[in-house]
Amino acid sequence: MRQDLYDDLLNYFFSGSVISVHCNQWGDTGKGKILDLIMAIAKIGERPMGADNCGHTMVINGKKIVTHMIPSSIMHDAQGIVSVIGRGVAFNPLTAYRELKMLMDSGETWENLKISFRAKLTMPYHILFDRLNEARANPDKKIGTTGRGVGPVFQDHVGRMGLCVRDMLDADVMCQKLYHVLPDRIAFLQTLDPQLIREILHHDDLENGLFFHPTEMLDVDAIIVRYLEHGKFFKNVITDAEKYVRSHVGKSTIALEGAQGALLDIDDGSYPFVTSSRCTVAGLAHGAGLREGDITHRIGVVKAYQTRVGAGCMPTEIGGRNAVEVFARDYKQHSAISDFSLLINDPDPVIQGAAIGRVGGEFGATTGRLRRIGWLDLVALRYAVGINGPEIAITKLDVLTGIKKIPVCVGYEYCGSDNPAIGLMHGQILDVMMPENDILEQCTPIYEILDGWDEDISGAISYHDLPENAQRYLDFIEVRADVSIILISVGPDREQTFFA
Ligand code: GDP
Ligand code: IMO
Ligand code: MG
Repeated sequence: MRQDLYDDLLNYFFSGSVISVHCNQWGDTGKGKILDLIMAIAKIGERPMGADNCGHTMVINGKKIVTHMIPSSIMHDAQGIVSVIGRGVAFNPLTAYRELKMLMDSGETWENLKISFRAKLTMPYHILFDRLNEARANPDKKIGTTGRGVGPVFQDHVGRMGLCVRDMLDADVMCQKLYHVLPDRIAFLQTLDPQLIREILHHDDLENGLFFHPTEMLDVDAIIVRYLEHGKFFKNVITDAEKYVRSHVGKSTIALEGAQGALLDIDDGSYPFVTSSRCTVAGLAHGAGLREGDITHRIGVVKAYQTRVGAGCMPTEIGGRNAVEVFARDYKQHSAISDFSLLINDPDPVIQGAAIGRVGGEFGATTGRLRRIGWLDLVALRYAVGINGPEIAITKLDVLTGIKKIPVCVGYEYCGSDNPAIGLMHGQILDVMMPENDILEQCTPIYEILDGWDEDISGAISYHDLPENAQRYLDFIEVRADVSIILISVGPDREQTFFA
């Protein structure tokens, strides 16, 4: 690592810091990259919440690594860094097993992995119900989930019917819990289209039909056998992770790797188009079993523009609702273009948005879906930092290079009917987001337009290396959203980062 970057990390974070790396938008802002960078000075890296719905990308010496279930800190395992999966996580043992195998095949180790015995367990029927719910929902009610079973896992948890990681170590408990929970569900499954159930259960991530039963629909014994096998595989790393992490607070530097983003949080996000766990700093602390006050540094990752995957309103979406789908459907002549940078100033916003997405490589790291693209929304950012704190890392600034005029959303005009009960009147200007989806649908963004820059910034290693207009863009964000930019990222590689 560049010496100046390493020195800055050491200067900014003191030994014994507890650092939260979370997202202040709708996910996919580069948390994996920032976490990986911070691991240069941390001793423990923890994924405290979320599930394998997330996809975190690191690029290390040109090599791209994506993790879903295993913390990004695993890439530092050989240096003795401890990676923890906390109790707030919905743990999918198959994803974890496959990911570890992939890492081992490329020479990585997992000697220092710890999994909380309290983490929630993702079961095959959670994945089945997630996919059935999505398949059966009316189009306007589909969440666009990642199909990883997340909603049903957390539903079971709050319904006090969930399994946790330690249940994989005890055959009796596993049998007793499953035979308590599953009969009603099997009876319900038997009322549905068996072909649809069969199809879902034959997906690769449900082990190609291993859990399918032709009359019962679910083969409970097969689930038990497989999960006990998983238990054997993970037995040595299952532990009281919360106690371990708590005992290191103030003594070892701990980095918490957030998943998803503030606007996808179950309580604070754009409900109902959210995930089912908590993604804010409070959620990270809770998932790790820490007090929020234990967190000494909050790094909210913010993309220089915005993306969203799945359903739900994003007011600054370029080209309007689901423009990526419109582009894929209506602009077939552009789909063969290899250099989308030629289209990033296209007067048709549908094309412009799609081009920015292609230049930014905006494909979901988990589902491969095209991410929807939006201009940076300071109304949303003000809301998110109100929850998570004002320190932010700006990523993907390089992707904006070449755009002549860059709109930034500074306010929303509420265009719905008067709603005095919640303090909203037609025509009112909002400078802080109200995240409920039905309200967002009624908000029209108000933009200020900033001049762009043409210079390649991907080699910048300080604020002063940036062209004046890129500096102005950052200054504008700081002043107008009342945030403090700590880190700036100008490329996917660990090294393409510097302190502001
Ligand atoms: P996460 O879910 O927040 O960890 O983010 P993802 O990994 O899903 O998506 C971020 C994508 O942007 C990944 O492909 C990263 O390699 C890439 N990335 C991160 N920072 C930068 C940056 O500053 N510039 C560019 N061009 N790509 C970046
Ligand atoms: P990372 O950590 C972006 C979205 C899904 C869907 C909604 C609910 O990589 O930033 P779920 O499967 O959780 O029930 O889906 O949340 N979603 C994400 N979007 N990045 C993620 O993770 C996401 N994890 C879930 O697309 O809209
Ligand atoms: Mg991601």
